[in-house]
Amino acid sequence: MRLLVTGGAGFIGANFVHMCVRDHPQDEITVLDSLSYAGSRESLAPVADAITLVQGDVADAGVVDELVAGSDAVVHFAAETHVDNALANPKPFLHSNVIGTYTVLEAVRHHDVRLHHISTDEVYGDLPLDTDDRFTESTPYNPSSPYSSTKAASDLLVRAWVRSFGVRATISNCSNNYGPYQHVEKFIPRQITNILTGRTPKLYGAGANVRDWIHVEDHNTAARAILERGEPGRTYLIGASNERTNLAVLQSILAAMGREPTDFEHVTDRAGHDLRYAIDPSAIRDELGWRPAHADFPAALSATIDWYRDNEAWWAPLKDAVEDEYRKRGQ
Ligand code: NAD
Ligand code: DAU
Repeated sequence: MRLLVTGGAGFIGANFVHMCVRDHPQDEITVLDSLSYAGSRESLAPVADAITLVQGDVADAGVVDELVAGSDAVVHFAAETHVDNALANPKPFLHSNVIGTYTVLEAVRHHDVRLHHISTDEVYGDLPLDTDDRFTESTPYNPSSPYSSTKAASDLLVRAWVRSFGVRATISNCSNNYGPYQHVEKFIPRQITNILTGRTPKLYGAGANVRDWIHVEDHNTAARAILERGEPGRTYLIGASNERTNLAVLQSILAAMGREPTDFEHVTDRAGHDLRYAIDPSAIRDELGWRPAHADFPAALSATIDWYRDNEAWWAPLKDAVEDEYRKRGQ
């Protein structure tokens, strides 16, 4: 398969490219990535000889059209992804997430190329803390933040291009990922690298908010299964049934790194902070036979901590600037 991976130099995209090179060596992979602050050539260094990396903007119709014309399928990861950044400056989210997805859709439409669009469970808004409700494929869209509203817009564009133009596209909405190569602005790597650099871990508000954590490799095996066996026009929810409060995750990190459970500080809460996300993954399990391989969260979290300990050269150049920004926001 000639595969175009947008955003393949970011966290999930780079892990996806590593998986494809390892498990599907017959693939011809091209990555299109603007190499923004969140993308890095180093994340693709282990597979650099096996792929082609094109630095470019996913909203640039000329570049996208040419690359799509030479592809059998597109997996579209490219996006601005951090909620706190969207609260500070929403404009790049409209450009990459909305105009970028529109640009990909026009190219796959003109060249009749299969598309898998990577999205998030945040398009559904949040759930109350004190229920067992979970998101399903039929939960109404109700995004809360500038980030999630642009991802919701991108999903709706995909649905409209399927219905109006017969584009062969699938969508997946996944819960919170963790694992290697995640930017240090995000919750789990921020706390690990805070401890590794002698800083105090930072918890927003009381830490009662709940996220449904999935290892990045499990997200990517699900995305690959949808690409190969999913039904065009369908949406699939991806999750590993692993709900935890932020406080509990932080205390697991503290315990794994030999710190006291109270060795952190509470900081200013996120504006409009979504309370709880939870995915019902029964459709993808039943229809595509997909299962998460990393079911032991403490073990996978420990391996993630080891990765950050062993790969300081990858994250250390990013750390000070990220913390300077957080300090300005009181976080
Ligand atoms: P990331 O921020 O680590 O990576 C995003 C990548 O997209 C970067 O390499 C960046 O350079 C690139 N990019 C951004 N704007 C671009 C543009 N205009 N043109 C070309 N490249 C551009 O993000 P991630 O966590 O890897 O997320 C990847 C995708 O998965 C996103 O679509 C996100 O919404 C979705 N998602 C993420 C999670 C999660 O927990 N991280 C969960 C569900 C869905
Ligand atoms: O649910 C999927 C989404 O998960 C993706 O679509 C997003 O791209 C991804 O960034 C992630 O969004 P969250 O906002 O849930 O992730 P984040 O890592 O920013 O924060 C996770 C939780 O931890 C959230 O409740 C806020 C909290 N938090 C975050 C940071 C950075 C803290 O308590 N302290 C922190 O320092």
